[in-house]
Amino acid sequence: MGDMTSATLIPSVSFRDGSEYPQLGLGTWKLRGEDAIRAVRAAIELGYRHIDTAALYKNEEEVGRAIKEAIAAGDVTRDELCVTTKLWHTDQGADKAADAFQTSLRNLGLDYLDLYLIHWPWPSAGKFVATFEVMAKMQGMGTVQSIGVSNFFPDALDELVAKTGITPAVNQVELHPGFSQESLRAYHEQHGIVTAAWSPLGQGTLLENDTVRDIAQATGKTPAQVILRWHIQLGNMVIPKSQSPERLAENAAIFDFELTADQMAQLTALDNATGLGRIGPDPLEFPDPEGN
Ligand SMILES: NC(=O)c1ccc[n+]([C@@H]2O[C@H](COP(=O)([O-])OP(=O)(O)OC[C@H]3O[C@@H](n4cnc5c(N)ncnc54)[C@H](OP(=O)(O)O)[C@@H]3O)[C@@H](O)[C@H]2O)c1
Repeated sequence: MGDMTSATLIPSVSFRDGSEYPQLGLGTWKLRGEDAIRAVRAAIELGYRHIDTAALYKNEEEVGRAIKEAIAAGDVTRDELCVTTKLWHTDQGADKAADAFQTSLRNLGLDYLDLYLIHWPWPSAGKFVATFEVMAKMQGMGTVQSIGVSNFFPDALDELVAKTGITPAVNQVELHPGFSQESLRAYHEQHGIVTAAWSPLGQGTLLENDTVRDIAQATGKTPAQVILRWHIQLGNMVIPKSQSPERLAENAAIFDFELTADQMAQLTALDNATGLGRIGPDPLEFPDPEGN
């Protein structure tokens, strides 16, 4: 965890390549059309400086439009923003990756990107090494500041680093109470990779959990704030999605309280609770060899 930025009071994490990235960002999966534009504008007004999208989300144009509007309105400057997008697995490989990157950049209306991720390793296709080499070339040319991966597991990370000589800045993985990814986080820490948590609120399902609600009551915070604070104290980057300005504000108001070691442990122990656990696909099996 780095310094507080004066504009936002959102702390930064440091990447191994020297870049700083806001620890809290806005997730945009399922935000489409005007909803996406409104959410990104509202988030920037509230002080969010980190936006997470993907080619898959079909909202890069709207995210880009909102960024352009926010800059025109004087809410923010381009260099204050950190924009992440991701390369979908059907665009993996030396022949397609460069075009996919240029398409995302054009859709976003940006002349450089802050962070580009391989969305899923797709181990059965055997293309992530070639894909990452293309991304490294883009980074060398200065069109992307940092490069990383998503949904990678230790064997895939080992292979990537061994064959490219480059350690990704970030691995963005499913992570929330009930699925705390303890061993993967330890691996990341050992290798200087920042852990980014997707579906940090368990897609909303964890907000009714009794342990979460008890801690919310004890701290005078909301269930979402308790969960997001747990992520922050673990050192995760975290990208909750909301389309509501009130909930966007709520989710960012997590830097003025601290969970005790016991409260942290209670939340992490939800890994052993029944009915919780992984929500999304297992990256060892998804996508299938055909890319579906
Ligand atoms: N790399 C990957 O493979 C991958 C996979 C999945 C997701 N992601 C990224 O991670 C981001 C976050 O994950 P996610 O969108 O799946 O789920 P999430 O952020 O865990 O949860 C979002 C859900 O929680 C609700 N919510 C948000 N804040 C709330 C609050 N304070 N109180 C009550 N409800 C609240 C939202 O509803 P409202 O919008 O109505 O507030 C929405 O239904 C995505 O948007 C995407 O950017 C990446």
